[in-house]
Amino acid sequence: MTFGCQMNAHDSRWLAGALIARGFAQTSIERARVVILNTCSVREKPEQKVKTAIGRVRAITGGDPEVLVAVTGCVAQQLGQTLFESGCQVRLVAGSDGINGVPEAVERLLDEPRLRLSLLDFTDHYSEREPVGCAIAGQSRPVTHVTVMQGCDNFCAYCIVPYTRGRQKSRAVKAVLDECRAALEMGGAREIMLLGQNVNAFGRDTTGDDDGFADLLARVAALPGLERLRFVTPHPGEMKPVDIESFASVAPLCPRLHLPVQSGSDRVLARMGRAYTRQDFYNLVAALRKARLDLALSTDIIVGFPGETEEDFNDTLETLTDCNFMSAFSFCYSDRPGTRAALFADKIAPERKQERLLRLQALQESLSGRWLEARLLQQTSLLIETRSPRQPCHNEEKVGERTEVLWQGRDPYGALVHVGLPSGRDHTGRMVPVEITKVGRHSLTGRQTGSAW
Ligand code: SAH
Ligand code: SF4
Ligand code: F3S
Repeated sequence: MTFGCQMNAHDSRWLAGALIARGFAQTSIERARVVILNTCSVREKPEQKVKTAIGRVRAITGGDPEVLVAVTGCVAQQLGQTLFESGCQVRLVAGSDGINGVPEAVERLLDEPRLRLSLLDFTDHYSEREPVGCAIAGQSRPVTHVTVMQGCDNFCAYCIVPYTRGRQKSRAVKAVLDECRAALEMGGAREIMLLGQNVNAFGRDTTGDDDGFADLLARVAALPGLERLRFVTPHPGEMKPVDIESFASVAPLCPRLHLPVQSGSDRVLARMGRAYTRQDFYNLVAALRKARLDLALSTDIIVGFPGETEEDFNDTLETLTDCNFMSAFSFCYSDRPGTRAALFADKIAPERKQERLLRLQALQESLSGRWLEARLLQQTSLLIETRSPRQPCHNEEKVGERTEVLWQGRDPYGALVHVGLPSGRDHTGRMVPVEITKVGRHSLTGRQTGSAW
């Protein structure tokens, strides 16, 4: 079970691959001998969620002591060995840097039923993981995620990530390039998504080799077979002119950027420790859009940060409109233990946070709707990911001369698009030129306009 961000999802895929390589197979909880809960602690009651999940496993397995439960990831890092108190099935806790050791630990724990193990130490360098076969790791997917760094040094006032993931540790450029190359040559990848909590700081730490993020982008982009390149997450205060310039000079870099602004109020941004003002953010957006005219932006917003006034909140609403984000993830502020903001006195009442969140989401819903509507009749290309769940399996449709089945993929802006493609073959990983013919509430429909490649 996986909670949390893309980095966690990526860790889960690696874990699955490394265990499969050792002879394990994935199955349902009812039949499992090992259950791994890969956890997130970034917001609201994560401990509760993990304990509920442990309780569910206990209920499903009847508390069978032979079933091994491992708790990994950010909540494990935070709560450590206290998780052993959640029942006798929990015999392994592993934090962010401990994940690498989980496959071995699982094997050992299955041999030694009385043993409990914790892997909670942070390493002072990025420790490379054993490569797992691309197909095994579920990486024979058209979109492959590649980690470029672990941890974060920014210590934004509200954020637990620097405590759960530890200090920023960049990977060596060569290791990143080797993994990307393997994914492209052997894993069927056509798009690479680079992952890190603060990617613009890539290379600028004790473990990095100091070439900088823009340089890394150019080098990944030059790898044969790459159609699309994306990255997440940039920090608006750390994007340098060379990073911005990449959107003009690096052809495979998609015209889409997730750029978390968090708030539109200078006062709140300062208290969050975000190191930019609203005007700085606007200047950045303008520079990015100058580099890439059709750039689509999405963002993260925290609503109800301590001390947020109605005026501060209105500044955030204004920022959403001014920046015309194609989408936004928005969250009520939640106290995280050990962070600076947890100690701020002027907390906002839950009802007020909730009410503001709903107002903000209503505004974003209309902005997102408008953004999608503007896509009608546009010519674009899709990277096909899977069959569309909209159409029951094996259903085919006669469209003119050809028989079609419905597939789905993403356009360069990351929007989900459904498209009918000729039946009788697997289109996963193909690039298909389309025209957008229909706009839905959260996705688009297109029509193939040329040959796939
Ligand atoms: N590294 C990324 C995001 C990390 S966490 C960045 O710097 O933007 C993902 C998102 O969770 C954040 O962008 C923020 O919007 C939200 N978040 C983090 N801590 C939070 C908290 N204490 N309460 C509510 N939302 C939070
Ligand atoms: Fe958290 Fe800030 Fe680091 Fe993002 S940049 S992970 S919000 S501390
Ligand atoms: Fe959550 Fe940890 Fe990611 S706290 S957002 S899983 S870095």
